[in-house]
Amino acid sequence: MPDKPFASENLAADQTDGSKGSDGSHPPTQDELDLLHYKPRIERPVKQKIDELQQGERLRHVIFSAQFSVEQLEDLGSTADKICMLSRTPSGQDFLIRLLSHKRAMLYFTQPSTRTFLSFMAACQILGITCNEVRNPTTSSETKGETHFDSIRMFSSYFDLIIMRSPLARLAEACAYLMIDLEESDNRSVPIVNAGSGADEHPTQALLDIYTLQRTFQFADPKDSSITTRYEQLQERYPNLTRGLAGKTYGFCGDIGRGRTVRSLANLLANYEGVTLIFIAPRHPTLALGDDLRQRLLDRGVRIHEVDSFEEVVDGQPVIEGLDALYMTRIQKEHNDAADAASFAEIDFSRYKLTLDLVARMKQYTPILHPFPRDQHFGEIPPEIDDDPRAMYFRQARNGMWVRAALLSSVFGVDRQIAEFFRDEFSQWHHYQEELAWTTPLGTVQK
Ligand code: MLT
Repeated sequence: MPDKPFASENLAADQTDGSKGSDGSHPPTQDELDLLHYKPRIERPVKQKIDELQQGERLRHVIFSAQFSVEQLEDLGSTADKICMLSRTPSGQDFLIRLLSHKRAMLYFTQPSTRTFLSFMAACQILGITCNEVRNPTTSSETKGETHFDSIRMFSSYFDLIIMRSPLARLAEACAYLMIDLEESDNRSVPIVNAGSGADEHPTQALLDIYTLQRTFQFADPKDSSITTRYEQLQERYPNLTRGLAGKTYGFCGDIGRGRTVRSLANLLANYEGVTLIFIAPRHPTLALGDDLRQRLLDRGVRIHEVDSFEEVVDGQPVIEGLDALYMTRIQKEHNDAADAASFAEIDFSRYKLTLDLVARMKQYTPILHPFPRDQHFGEIPPEIDDDPRAMYFRQARNGMWVRAALLSSVFGVDRQIAEFFRDEFSQWHHYQEELAWTTPLGTVQK
């Protein structure tokens, strides 16, 4: 099966009447007609879609980063912290693994994935959810002509949750509508979690990015004492430094135009008061910030800058020196077309790679994030940077497991049980400071 059975990644928005297939040369396939069926719902502004994806107060289908408020992000971060802590003790592990041991999940990943797939699988295992997978559609009945929707409906017959990644931009969203419609007609319906949809969104990556920022911007340190803390030391050098994500300057560097993780994270950061987003990318229509994301951010009152190097001056200093967090990305060359290949030859890509010299000029606390994979051939983050305490990307990837477990616990409504068990378990022997860190028999654990 071809990687993209439809010519356009955003088929539902591009096609108008359904009389032709997506490349205009053949009658539409049933897959194409299925997506067209949901076109009016897909084309609504995101805000109008959010209620439909909820079940009461709870998230039912996780499709867009715009579904998450700051309060929900705080709750998820707090649950992720508790799961992380409970996973360190046998009694905590035993409790977690029984929580959802009656549930089964399908991991339907028809686009390559390492971290997202494995961390979802590990998250399921932490909570006792049994996992199965379809990763290669050539081993499924799709090779016999089965539609995506029939496949999804079949998965929903056997499983209680579908976590899906697809090269098709709107497939996860359309599948959520399929499930909503099935539920309304009293048929079996299960939650859909979007684990990456074409160039469109990767909401759960944005959740782990936010969780990593939440933890980093607590500025807690194992060496903190009642005499001095890392935060106080940093404040001597950066008097305006505050805890938390609000009011900070975030840099995104690399392939901004095609990075779905950038889209999802920028949307979440827009929830926080007073943030500035700086996009560092070649001035090329494929790689620079897209019009839709720019407009969405501006509409939400976010301060944005678009520059083409770390040296460009913003607010009186070179970008690299003013950032509070830096999100590196790779150039997604697998999406290049022939025109891109020719015009990219003109670009000086060395500007979009970190060096030890650049890192030395960054603020002492500025975390370096990357959704990974990093590209060894391009070298946007050379390995010599990995030992710098600001290199947060491996911890960021591990955080994906905790926050995805927290998300699943919230979708299945067991997050409160986790909070209660945690309180009972830890209040007896541990000193727990909600804002900073835990002191436990295992030592001080930074949240
Ligand atoms: C993604 O799935 O979008 C990745 O984690 C980021 C990338 O492929 O560069």
